[in-house]
Amino acid sequence: MGLRPSIIEDVRAQKVFDSRGSEAVEVEVFTRAGYGRATAPMGASRGRGEAVPYPKGGVDEAVKKVEDLVAPSLSGLDATDQRLVDSVLHEVDGTPDFSNIGGNTAYAASMAVAVAAANSLGISLFKHLGGPMVYELPYPLGNVIGGGKHTKGRGPDIQEMLVLPIGAEDVLEALQANFLVHRRVGKLLLKADPAFTGGRGDEGAWATTLGTERALEVLSRACEEVSGELGFEIRPGLDVAASTLWREEKNAYVYEREGVIRNREDQIKFILGLMERFNLVYVEDPLMEEDFEGFSELAEEASKMGCLICGDDLFVTNRDRIARGAELGSANAVIIKPNQVGTLSDTLEAVELARSKGMVPVASHRSGESTDPHLAHLAVGLKCPIIKSGVLGGERVAKLNELIRIAEELGEVGRMARLPGAIRR
Ligand code: PGA
Ligand code: ZN
Repeated sequence: MGLRPSIIEDVRAQKVFDSRGSEAVEVEVFTRAGYGRATAPMGASRGRGEAVPYPKGGVDEAVKKVEDLVAPSLSGLDATDQRLVDSVLHEVDGTPDFSNIGGNTAYAASMAVAVAAANSLGISLFKHLGGPMVYELPYPLGNVIGGGKHTKGRGPDIQEMLVLPIGAEDVLEALQANFLVHRRVGKLLLKADPAFTGGRGDEGAWATTLGTERALEVLSRACEEVSGELGFEIRPGLDVAASTLWREEKNAYVYEREGVIRNREDQIKFILGLMERFNLVYVEDPLMEEDFEGFSELAEEASKMGCLICGDDLFVTNRDRIARGAELGSANAVIIKPNQVGTLSDTLEAVELARSKGMVPVASHRSGESTDPHLAHLAVGLKCPIIKSGVLGGERVAKLNELIRIAEELGEVGRMARLPGAIRR
């Protein structure tokens, strides 16, 4: 037993930096025959129900907790026993929201263990996570025009305007489509927005001074043009991140830049209007994170229009919240961000629950990212039909290029995932 190559011999942590230049925790796991490393990403528009990212004292304290608590508890365990490793992380933390060691610390440790296990076994991470029956590659959902918290309140009030190349036949085609749409939007903005400097926000999306509807006109034109040139369907989407617009005291959504206030009914009508006018394929967090019923109203109409309604802040990768959303019909897609729950086992359970309820799991980056490629393996291994990882920026492209390598490894058995029939028209 003691001779197994995947026995954990040492766990170390250090402070590094993410794509925003903010401090992040990195964990290294050494096994008898392998090695794994993972760095935690960090969100800017975090849901209220997320795990607490770092303990009081920040990343320095997280590093200390790994050395004092996590390392001694994981040493001697088998890295291939992810469930045991993750339950030990919960035990060591001892709180329901990882506020002791930090959800980001738990994520980095959990993922580093998985990477070390795969490395010890001499197999790819996606195969270790998903087993031998994994053949499907996800469609890349990419951020093209940024707003909200990612452009410091100077861009459109809506956080993200996205592209999804649903007609692409392979990963290369899909990525090419997203890069072309991003480039085309940049060109069109030079004409449409006199104040446009070519600047980009936290996720590599263009930072325009146009309001939501004018910006969407530009994106939708670019999607149509590139779609015509490449000969397959490419459609726009949105991440409204509506919790960042919601003002409790006003009981309304406040579009500060555009000077518009919308109550709940106005907001629902506004989103439905955008879906129809711009043929949207995907809308994330159209309402604030506690309005499960409002989501249901929207989801019912959206499915008739071939549009996915996705919950991010609504679900925070949390099983209880996903179960509630499934019961109420609040969404037909679920954002999966492992650091929202902390461990890979919790993430896997969230993905399986979502899928069992007919909801599409969408493996997602955060606005503050590492250059780790692991998200691509997570998307493939956990069979998520969509991966949300931006379009530009080295830390985003690191995941996208990894998809190409995974496709290469899969060779002829690899194929694009099946998207729900409703959005393939
Ligand atoms: P984040 O949000 O800034 O919390 O990573 C990105 C998103 O809302 O999808
Ligand atoms: Zn979101």
